[in-house]
Amino acid sequence: MANVFVARSLDEIRFWSRIMKEHSLFLRLGFRAEDTTLINEANQFYALFEAIENRAHQLPVDSDPQVILRFNTEVHTAVSLIWAFKRKVLGLILTCQLPGANNYPLLVDHTSREANYFRNRLEELNAGKLEPLPDAIIDENVFFLRTMADHAKFISHLLDPSERKLIDMANDFSHDFDTLLFQARDIDSMRPQSQTAPILGQLLDQNRVSVASLRDFKRTARDLINACKIKSIIHPLLADHVFREAERFLHIIDMFEQHLTGTPVSVRDLEAH
Ligand SMILES: [Fe+2]
Ligand SMILES: [Fe+2]
Repeated sequence: MANVFVARSLDEIRFWSRIMKEHSLFLRLGFRAEDTTLINEANQFYALFEAIENRAHQLPVDSDPQVILRFNTEVHTAVSLIWAFKRKVLGLILTCQLPGANNYPLLVDHTSREANYFRNRLEELNAGKLEPLPDAIIDENVFFLRTMADHAKFISHLLDPSERKLIDMANDFSHDFDTLLFQARDIDSMRPQSQTAPILGQLLDQNRVSVASLRDFKRTARDLINACKIKSIIHPLLADHVFREAERFLHIIDMFEQHLTGTPVSVRDLEAH
């Protein structure tokens, strides 16, 4: 099991440290030129997570679990710091102390939720106790559906108002994912009676269809932005960033599906998640 711990830890850190690094860039781009302290802080976080990302790629999968345990703790501290930074920025925006800055409050809150998610994953890995599969399925879906619903809203609001067709499409996705999120929360509130294999399987199937279609929309948007074919204030890296997060959700859904099929739900723990 030691190699599973090492592999899972490195996979989480490789994915999410790049995400945290990019959040630092997006936040920095949204600050005003005079917000030099905030800009410096964001740049420091960029360097911090770039270094973590590089180390995570250099560490081999047969690393000593003790080394990974310490690495996870160190990354956990860094993630706690960027979480606090994001919440501080959110407070400044919501008290109108950054007039004219270009970070939406929901985007800042969103990136702090992703930091919190990353932090929880590291805690679970180091504690060696993962949630039972039925709980993990519901929690991960609630988290990622909200994330996807937010992405659709960001895309809609960062497109140029003249991109009417694309904005309509993004708004349709926003509505679709809000609805899926409410459904998942209903299943959440019906725990534990709702945690049957058919109900959880249906949750995964329904979500997969919508996530795959949002993922394709994001890929198209990313390619169009890269080719300079659409008008927006979306950074090309942000378009790729939200695409990668949708891919991650799809992989998680597929992994859950594999664990669900053919194995008794109530006793099967989440081994490789
Ligand atoms: Fe993100
Ligand atoms: Fe996101």
